[in-house]
Amino acid sequence: MSGQPDPAGAEVLGLLDAHQRKDLLRFLTCGSVDDGKSTLIGRLLYDSRTVFEDQLAALESDSRKAGTQGDSIDFALLVDGLSAEREQGITIDVAYRYFSTQKRKFIVADTPGHEQYTRNMVTGASTADAAVILVDARKGVLTQTRRHSYLVWLLGIRNVVLAVNKMDVVGWDRAVFDRIVDDYRAFAAQIGMDEFHAIPVSALKGDNVIAPSANTPWHTGGALLDWLENAPIADDLATRAFRMPVQWVNRPDQDFRGFSGLAAAGSIAPGDRVRIVPSGRESRVACIHTMSGDLPCAVAGQSVTLVLADDVDVSRGEVIAAADDAPEVADQFECTLVWFDADPMLPGRPYLIQIGSQSGAGQIVELKHKVNVNTLEKSAAKQLEMNEIGVANLSLSAPVAFEPYESNRDLGGFILIDRMSNRTVGAGMIRFALRRSHNIHWQTMRIGKEARAAAKGQRPRVIWFTGLSGAGKSTIANLVEERLHLEGGHTYLLDGDNVRHGLNRDLGFTEADRVENIRRVAEVARLMVDAGLVVLVSFISPFRAERQFARDLVGEGEFVEVFVDTPLEESERRDAKGLYKKARAGQLKNFTGIDSPYEAPVQPEIRLDTMQLSPTEAADAVLTWLLRNP
Ligand code: ADX
Repeated sequence: MSGQPDPAGAEVLGLLDAHQRKDLLRFLTCGSVDDGKSTLIGRLLYDSRTVFEDQLAALESDSRKAGTQGDSIDFALLVDGLSAEREQGITIDVAYRYFSTQKRKFIVADTPGHEQYTRNMVTGASTADAAVILVDARKGVLTQTRRHSYLVWLLGIRNVVLAVNKMDVVGWDRAVFDRIVDDYRAFAAQIGMDEFHAIPVSALKGDNVIAPSANTPWHTGGALLDWLENAPIADDLATRAFRMPVQWVNRPDQDFRGFSGLAAAGSIAPGDRVRIVPSGRESRVACIHTMSGDLPCAVAGQSVTLVLADDVDVSRGEVIAAADDAPEVADQFECTLVWFDADPMLPGRPYLIQIGSQSGAGQIVELKHKVNVNTLEKSAAKQLEMNEIGVANLSLSAPVAFEPYESNRDLGGFILIDRMSNRTVGAGMIRFALRRSHNIHWQTMRIGKEARAAAKGQRPRVIWFTGLSGAGKSTIANLVEERLHLEGGHTYLLDGDNVRHGLNRDLGFTEADRVENIRRVAEVARLMVDAGLVVLVSFISPFRAERQFARDLVGEGEFVEVFVDTPLEESERRDAKGLYKKARAGQLKNFTGIDSPYEAPVQPEIRLDTMQLSPTEAADAVLTWLLRNP
């Protein structure tokens, strides 16, 4: 081949290059059932694909000459999009579709309209740059429209287009369109959405979808595709301060240690000073490693491996950031929550919280209010039900690097995972860190648990009795304490009935109150273990999640779960306090075993079958276990 470029080949390469550089808009379509969402997407795909296919055909034949594959880029992009969500641990029930015009590439997240699909909508919206809100011209703005718009707004989407569909059915009546737009504007203003675009369309007939329609001479705002091709894409990420959440520590051998992840913001070059958050250590970038060699610099959106100049420890989940502009670190936040799960969100219940690649235990400590998506009224609530949205305080067991969701979706958005079922039960957006997280420190004492325990000559632990009301927990716990005391042990017995007279007198028997009841008792038990005591806890404690929480509060081997296993029929037959009778008569609501659940332990340290053992024999069994497990 001569040194002269082949003109046809150069043109193909030019086209390919233009295609690769075309920016990408991720958008989401929302609407109620039958609003015509699928038709609209179908139309966009079909009508624009023709354009694309022509182009592709040309590209393909030319590519053959030039020996290049034209479509590999697109596929990778699509796969990337999906894996991001997969990493967040959210089940994908969102159909992603891909199309392209001469100007842009598009990924459409098609999310189902029903209320129970909030989870999917949030999934789709969390990575979208724009949203198409579809309404039926005959129906106008519905509850669903408001709900979707509110979620879209909360999730940080600032490019919104209202597509008023089925305009052909209302005779292209401008008054109908104007009224719907006015209605929507009133709602939009309430949520802070000052700007949105509105287009009268007929998805079925194709009017104003790809090209302006002759049926709407009064509409000067262009067609939907035109809007999609011009919607601004946040492209300032690269100019912000550098942040890279570490996804894994790459250590193939003793000589190499790199920290891999996706640069979420900013740019980085060898020699740049970085700070690791939350640990706070500082170093310099020695080199930027990729599969295809070292790089002179890297920018937001690139997956890289950073090798640091110093031998600092960085673990998965930490964020490598620009040294003089690192993200804040906190463990308490005010956040907006969207609840997905059929089981309600209960303040005090331990959930697994995942923020970017950081994860750890956390709780919603206080639900401040929930929001009525129709009226936007705030109302007080004790728990969030499925599909509800609220504002709450979140507390994490360890500090994390974060940014408010508004300024960084990656470091400000999180999901909540149920620790028992592993289901993603909700999503949240950090509004700001609470001051107290900076101002309250765990005071390190000069005398520790070991010293206090040594003074008492015993091993502190929690002996946690769980079982139905009337199972015999208190009777057995009393006998065990008596024996330990006689042997010189320093003990304390926390009993449900007693603690509910004092510390927990404000709590009843709803699920939310029981969660809080056990949370407080677990914290008290932890303090008592710290004081060097052997603590006996006798509470129904019906939920596995809270018993696990209590276990996690104390050290390895310090939690002894004792399942006082008495079947419901037997507990009810004994009915020492006459409560089962009342519950059966409907005079006592939320009674455990009757109309409130009991989750039996799966692997308790000790199971006491009270059908076989007398209370004294049961107490003996506990004491024997303690002796054997010093
Ligand atoms: S827990 O479920 O929150 O752990 P806890 O052990 O504190 O319950 O209190 C249970 C005791 O409260 C029972 O032994 C019983 O005497 C009394 N009680 C009153 N109402 C209820 C109820 N609805 N369900 C269970 N126990 C009740």
